[in-house]
Amino acid sequence: MRIDIITILPKLLEGPFSDSIMKRAQEKGLAEIHIQNLRDYSTSKHKNVDDYQYGGGAGMVMSCEPIANCIDDLKQQRKYDEIIFMTPDGEVLEQSISNEFSLKENLLILCGHYKGIDERIREHYITREISIGSYVLSGGELAAAVLTDSIVRLLPGVLNDETSALSDSFQDNLLSPPVYTRPADFRGWKVPDVLLSGDFNKIDTWRHEQALKRTKERRPDLLSDTEGE
Ligand code: ADE
Repeated sequence: MRIDIITILPKLLEGPFSDSIMKRAQEKGLAEIHIQNLRDYSTSKHKNVDDYQYGGGAGMVMSCEPIANCIDDLKQQRKYDEIIFMTPDGEVLEQSISNEFSLKENLLILCGHYKGIDERIREHYITREISIGSYVLSGGELAAAVLTDSIVRLLPGVLNDETSALSDSFQDNLLSPPVYTRPADFRGWKVPDVLLSGDFNKIDTWRHEQALKRTKERRPDLLSDTEGE
């Protein structure tokens, strides 16, 4: 899979993909992440990418031309399955959306800034608008990093234990059960006996019960009508 991210702040996106799982995914050739500097597509003398908004009002708007030039250029090189704009007024990111995107070949993600982007770009280029939550960040970069991470870790071969993405919180609309590691007794705080029992049926049942309990307590909205009762 290939993901291109268009940004005016490429340095902000150097960190999130240069370590750990995201780094390994790229080294193994499972994901290609390319950061595109929007300023490279500005034709103005000072490499401007924004302008005052029509009708007045505070805040600059990202102009059509550099974005259109950049997307046109990238689209000439490959076909994108989705052109995604990161924005607080988009569809709120959920595991099901990341699952869906993880099955695509090429994704293009546009990070917004200032007051937003010229609406005509949204109308004519953008196929999905994604928010990572009901709060406003100073730009779309961190949101793009969150989205990309949530997609890339799902690609087959990225995680060492192939099953571990499947047992994540949210994959079955349940939060994860509690987990423990050695020692079995830390300052008198004991690991539940069942986990030391070696009886894997009992352990599976306990984990499911705990996941259900935690979901009921913390995220009852995730439960279907029948499980939530
Ligand atoms: N840009 C600014 N805030 C954002 C958010 N919450 N989600 C996605 N993109 C954003």
